[in-house]
Amino acid sequence: MNLQAPKGTKDILPDEQPYWRHFYRTVEKSALKSGFEKIDVPIFESTTLFKQSIGEATDIVEKEMYTFLDKSRNSLTLRPEFTAGVVRAYLEHGMYTLPQPVKLFYFGPVFRYDRPQAGRYREFYQFGFEIFGEKQPIIDAQLITLVWNIHKKLKLKNISLQINSIGCPECRENYKKELVDYYILQKEKLCPDCKRRLRRNPLRLLDCKNEECLELGIGAPQIIDYLCDDCNSHFQSVLEYLDEVSIPYELNPKLVRGLDYYNRTTFEIWGTKKGAQNALGGGGRYDGLAKILGGKDIPAIGYAGGVERTIEALKEEEIKIPAEQNAPVFLVQLGEQGRKHGLRLAEELRNKNIGVADALGKNSLKAQMKLADKTGAKVAIIIGQREAAKNTVILRDMKQGVQNEVPFEKAAEKIRKALKK
Ligand code: HAM
Repeated sequence: MNLQAPKGTKDILPDEQPYWRHFYRTVEKSALKSGFEKIDVPIFESTTLFKQSIGEATDIVEKEMYTFLDKSRNSLTLRPEFTAGVVRAYLEHGMYTLPQPVKLFYFGPVFRYDRPQAGRYREFYQFGFEIFGEKQPIIDAQLITLVWNIHKKLKLKNISLQINSIGCPECRENYKKELVDYYILQKEKLCPDCKRRLRRNPLRLLDCKNEECLELGIGAPQIIDYLCDDCNSHFQSVLEYLDEVSIPYELNPKLVRGLDYYNRTTFEIWGTKKGAQNALGGGGRYDGLAKILGGKDIPAIGYAGGVERTIEALKEEEIKIPAEQNAPVFLVQLGEQGRKHGLRLAEELRNKNIGVADALGKNSLKAQMKLADKTGAKVAIIIGQREAAKNTVILRDMKQGVQNEVPFEKAAEKIRKALKK
């Protein structure tokens, strides 16, 4: 039997969990305080949903989806991202009849069959936001501000906001023609993937990470010069709003994103890691997606960040996360009567919302005191046969090494006071 987690997946061990909790709490708090509500969507959806949303000619749909037939021979796919599922849910539940905008956030695992490497996994977590029903540029700026500020709340310093506009389907068509004309002259120098992209998805030529393709891209025409008046004015307004709230950005004409549903504003948050895996997250407007999925014309914008990559960035910048002390009390018990009294007191404390760690399977005083020390408990409760018989407990202040014997009934109150000190 193979005892290893599948390639590209990993366990999130107890040591790691404080980072994940801190991260989730920061996201949740910011989202709720900005009027977002949580949504959970299924981990698998119909394959068609992802094909139609993300686009047939994208890396995700061409090579990275975990697709399978269920026992009724329906083609299902493990979600490679959330946006498609969230749009489906918005339409299915008629959320367009609610007052707009509808603002949703999410957090959970997604799956992409890619070549695993540092920062790139086959199962990874995303957190994200989607805003439906508003097309004004101030909404773009508001979402970008929320995302930027979450990274600042996490105390990340070495990040940058990359921003671009990829226009609307009309202005993008003209641009695509120019782009193909530019690259076709140098087709032989392109990598095999880009040769295919030239026909199927020319915008993606711009963010190929192959060295030669990158070099060819330097002289490529820039979409910003081809935006129609409406798209141009939308983009200028987004930038003005960002200036207004002092969010620094870098204009990046190559930021076209890897999913087909985008229009107008695209943006990413980058960390400092060199190479392809430096995007901590990305997003943009996708005003046409609801209609493509057979719904109404609903403007929308969203963002998703990679949780592992962001936590790796926290570690790289050596950012300390808030210390947690979930069990400030440790129960040390000796003998059957001591154990029974201890069990009772520990439950009473937990019911009063005071965390208690214990080692009820152990008998040795020394071993239990050692554990109490290791868990960083502030107070140890010691109950032996003698204390049980007298209906008392010993409370030990672990820092000062001072201990007192108190009546069993008074123990909870005394512990609460000791913890407040
Ligand atoms: P995405 O750029 O495909 O966008 O993914 C967002 C983030 O997920 C990336 O920036 C990265 O941090 C993380 N990520 C992607 N692939 C991997 C991987 N193999 N291993 C680890 N982390 C990864 C989307 O998914 C869009 N749905 C974002 C969006 C929401 N657009 C509008 N609304």
